[in-house]
Amino acid sequence: MPQMVQQLLSQAGGLSQVPSRFIQPVEERPESEQGCTTIPVIDMKGIAENGNRIIAEIARACQEWGFFQVINHGVAPSLMEEFRDLAHEFFSLGQEEKEVNAIQPGKCVGYGRFFEQSDGVANWADNLILFSYGEEQRLAQPCMPPKPKRFREVVEKYGSAMFKLFTQLLELISAGLGLQPDAIAKQAKINDPGAAIRTDFNCYPPCPQPKLVLGSAPHADRGVLTVLQQDRVSGLQVAKDGKWFPVPPAKNAFVINLGDQMQIMSNGKYKSIVHRAVANQTETRYSFANFLMPADQTVIQPMAELLSASSPAVYRPIRFGEYIGGYSYLFKPLNRNIDSFRVIPQDCL
Ligand code: OGA
Ligand code: NI
Repeated sequence: MPQMVQQLLSQAGGLSQVPSRFIQPVEERPESEQGCTTIPVIDMKGIAENGNRIIAEIARACQEWGFFQVINHGVAPSLMEEFRDLAHEFFSLGQEEKEVNAIQPGKCVGYGRFFEQSDGVANWADNLILFSYGEEQRLAQPCMPPKPKRFREVVEKYGSAMFKLFTQLLELISAGLGLQPDAIAKQAKINDPGAAIRTDFNCYPPCPQPKLVLGSAPHADRGVLTVLQQDRVSGLQVAKDGKWFPVPPAKNAFVINLGDQMQIMSNGKYKSIVHRAVANQTETRYSFANFLMPADQTVIQPMAELLSASSPAVYRPIRFGEYIGGYSYLFKPLNRNIDSFRVIPQDCL
């Protein structure tokens, strides 16, 4: 497996210079101009009586940013904390204990570095990737880390809570698009046994030269929706109007962003926005990203209710498995994967 960042930092004498495979080309480095506003924080408290306000706020955030944070979202703060503690415990295990669960060649789950590729720059991050929800995916994946002992139990409890939150968010987003509340869930078949939640545990150790690296290179998420828990250290940035906008951590909040499948289903009305994570010099940052993924055979296409003669389908129908199979992280923000499924060229819109 690649040498992990935690391993590099624990070498005798420490690390004063970043190895060259982590060094970003000048134009990708994190120094670019920063925006000074930030994504909306939406309070989901009292959804029965405040439903219409919440639907409207989410709709506006989806259209303006493709990103928002939610508080009072119904997931117990104690469960969020239990999950964070579990992750901290996992990443503080000895290297050999973590490697028991190393990502195997050709597989996408386990401990390793997501985005490790021969022709790209490595992220300044160590990752643990698994499925926390979904009948078929969980049966297919190799066992979860054997340590800490309670690992599977906590992850499955968290995965179920995430699925509930995804279901609720999709209802609110559907309603905001003027659709039946279950319209998006039905089209993405999120209750299919092959649908799943992939959960990435991202550990971004402190970096001696944070201006040369990225914790996570710019990308858009591939699934329907992403729910991210970040700890108290900032690092996430969202691209908008040619600038990077930081997403400051809010207590007990989740960051929500739309994935490429939502861009297709909304026929381009809502965008799956490019984002990245920057490194810092002093603190380890953790984030936990949950991606709602349809089953491979599920066909994703613009919702029929959103199409008309003046608003024809921008994307062709695509099997999710085909989408994922053809996905490359080496895209540049102007040449997105999703663009290869367009039937109407961008400049005609
Ligand atoms: C991701 C991601 C950002 C972060 O895992 O897809 O964008 O803040 N993470 O770690
Ligand atoms: Ni992401």
